[in-house]
Amino acid sequence: MKVERISELERKYALQSLSGQFETHNNYIFVTRLEKAFAEKIGTKYSVAFVNGTATLHTALEAAGVGIGDEVIVPPLTMSSTSLAVLQANAIPVFADVDERTFLISAEEIEKKITFKTKAIICVSLYGLMPDMDAIMAVAKRHGLVVIEDDAQCFLGTYKGKKAGTIGDMSSFSFQASKHLTSGEGGIVTTDNDDFALQLRRISGLGYGSISIKKARITKDDIQDPNYERHVALGWNYRMSDVVGAVALAQTERMEELCACRIESGKILEDALSGCSWLIPQYTPAECVHAYWSVSVRMVNPNITWYDFRRKFMELGGDGIYAAWQLTYLEPAFRNKRFLGRETLMENYTYGRGLCPVAEKVQPQMLQFKTNYFDTSEAETQAEILKKTISYFN
Ligand SMILES: Cc1ncc(COP(=O)(O)O)c(C=O)c1O
Repeated sequence: MKVERISELERKYALQSLSGQFETHNNYIFVTRLEKAFAEKIGTKYSVAFVNGTATLHTALEAAGVGIGDEVIVPPLTMSSTSLAVLQANAIPVFADVDERTFLISAEEIEKKITFKTKAIICVSLYGLMPDMDAIMAVAKRHGLVVIEDDAQCFLGTYKGKKAGTIGDMSSFSFQASKHLTSGEGGIVTTDNDDFALQLRRISGLGYGSISIKKARITKDDIQDPNYERHVALGWNYRMSDVVGAVALAQTERMEELCACRIESGKILEDALSGCSWLIPQYTPAECVHAYWSVSVRMVNPNITWYDFRRKFMELGGDGIYAAWQLTYLEPAFRNKRFLGRETLMENYTYGRGLCPVAEKVQPQMLQFKTNYFDTSEAETQAEILKKTISYFN
């Protein structure tokens, strides 16, 4: 299978957007089309476009009413934006451990971390696999918490037949360069909830009062009125540029083919691991379809170091192996609480080893293989190299 990462359609829409000269009446045409198309593809009532998939999380938290000193439960094994967004909202990230087989945050571990200050949970569909959403939603319901899916890595992954982005109260996606769909940078939030949709729009649009879910932008009539009062509440400028929206729209229209190629590549690479007892892939429960942002495995052979395996793989022509991120709470910014003044909120919180033992055990063992091949024959070549690397060490 072959697909074009950036096709004629992206170029056509980008040029059309540019030909509008960013004039007020032309601006945001493509962003508006993107929001409609994305919501339709995922199957939600609304979607709101953003500058990136971190601003999405920050805004979703604020739309949910999360604020100063509230606690938000997050996994430590993920890209740190999940937790940085919590700090942006002046709230406190509380880390819940992951499941050893799926590497995903679990409902059981979430429940252990709930206190009277907990307001929300961000559950990450890590590497393209959704967590046990029924169990997480049940915990959230029992404790009155908002659930935000972080689906930055999970386009068209499913849980019990439901697409990523349709179960939580709000769901965040990223269009950053490594993602299934990309516009270089960019993000989008889906929701079925009218109030959250309006808040997402307002908070990401400078708190303008005259915008609404349907009316994304203020008009000339608004701003040519000297008595026009703009800001009904605090907001940020997190709006997506229209030329970025043009590229993201084309990618959204091509979502199925782009994801299919990536999923196929993921399966090819994962198949290469079969029969190897010391490389254990992320476990995909029967009720899930994995979207394979990456193929991730634990290496549990004490005789091989992470670096030796990668070196051999590269020597044989491999494309490189990524490590899992450091656990967020072990990053220096967290260990040393360098939070741009917010550390005063955190006097009673300590970040360091021991918080999430399973995540601490698996993170150093993990190897991530890339899946963003746009010709699956390249994934096949990589799979052969992976098999040779395994045989070398066997
Ligand atoms: C799980 C996860 N959450 C959030 C983000 C942040 O997205 P962005 O880079 O668009 O801000 C990313 C990726 O970059 C991610 O992988």
